[in-house]
Amino acid sequence: MRHATAPPMNIEIDTDSENFLRLLRRVEDTWSKLGKEEVYWSVITDNNFREINFEKNKNKFLEMGEWDVQRIKAALSRSGIAFEKIDTALDFGCGVGRLSISMAQKIKHVTAVDISESHLDAANKLCKELNINNIEFKKIQSLGDIKELGEFDLVFSLIVLQHNPPPIIVEIIKLLTFCVKPGGHIYIQVPTYSKDYNYSVKDHLKTEAKGMEMHVIPEYILYDTLYNCGMNILEVTEDGAVGDLNMVSKAVLAKKRNSFCD
Ligand SMILES: C[S@@+](CC[C@H](N)C(=O)[O-])C[C@H]1O[C@@H](n2cnc3c(N)ncnc32)[C@H](O)[C@@H]1O
Repeated sequence: MRHATAPPMNIEIDTDSENFLRLLRRVEDTWSKLGKEEVYWSVITDNNFREINFEKNKNKFLEMGEWDVQRIKAALSRSGIAFEKIDTALDFGCGVGRLSISMAQKIKHVTAVDISESHLDAANKLCKELNINNIEFKKIQSLGDIKELGEFDLVFSLIVLQHNPPPIIVEIIKLLTFCVKPGGHIYIQVPTYSKDYNYSVKDHLKTEAKGMEMHVIPEYILYDTLYNCGMNILEVTEDGAVGDLNMVSKAVLAKKRNSFCD
């Protein structure tokens, strides 16, 4: 019953294109910087994954990715979807490939995209070491690039959207639905509540970027956006992705409708 009587959050979702681009550049600058400083730690903020400790803890890092992919598989399975029928997947915000690698070991092809070149470089390095050849990594220059990625059986994104301001989270969700084949699935993790969180674009842009940010969109906006983009929600689970009892994070599995009454 945590947060059962919580008041509504005041969150600005719409903004003009100029501010939208300023927000996106801020995300890119933050993640490029994090990638240059501590690329693995920026993905999982545990000292075991700091640059100096990574080599001896690499397997543990990859096992965590495997566990998250098992989580996606289990959600699909609970909704009656045979994982064996999934050939192609898009990993949005792939980081150093923690999830893409595990996914690529199970399906034919993974497209993995990220806003940070340094994360993609580390991901390519890991794949070479592990002899993984069925992942195509791409840098996202602008959100418009997402529509050009093609259509996939499965689109997934974990611990990514939360680092983007609300107007960008909603736009990314809309664009990701274009990448799902009709009848295909999307699995995304998004924080939907944070105690005392409110968001104004103007106030945000007045502050200095100070590293990794955490953002939230209201739960009804998440579901409305998916539904209005042709997705039927199959399952919603609360997950511990944010690791903070003052926040709520949801993992949503949705299916792209073939037609209105699908
Ligand atoms: C915490 S890491 C998670 C990486 C991966 N999803 C995982 O679970 O291992 C977040 C990643 O998302 C990327 N990212 C954040 N915002 C993004 C955006 N708007 N477009 C593309 N990538 C983004 C960052 O560069 C970073 O590599």
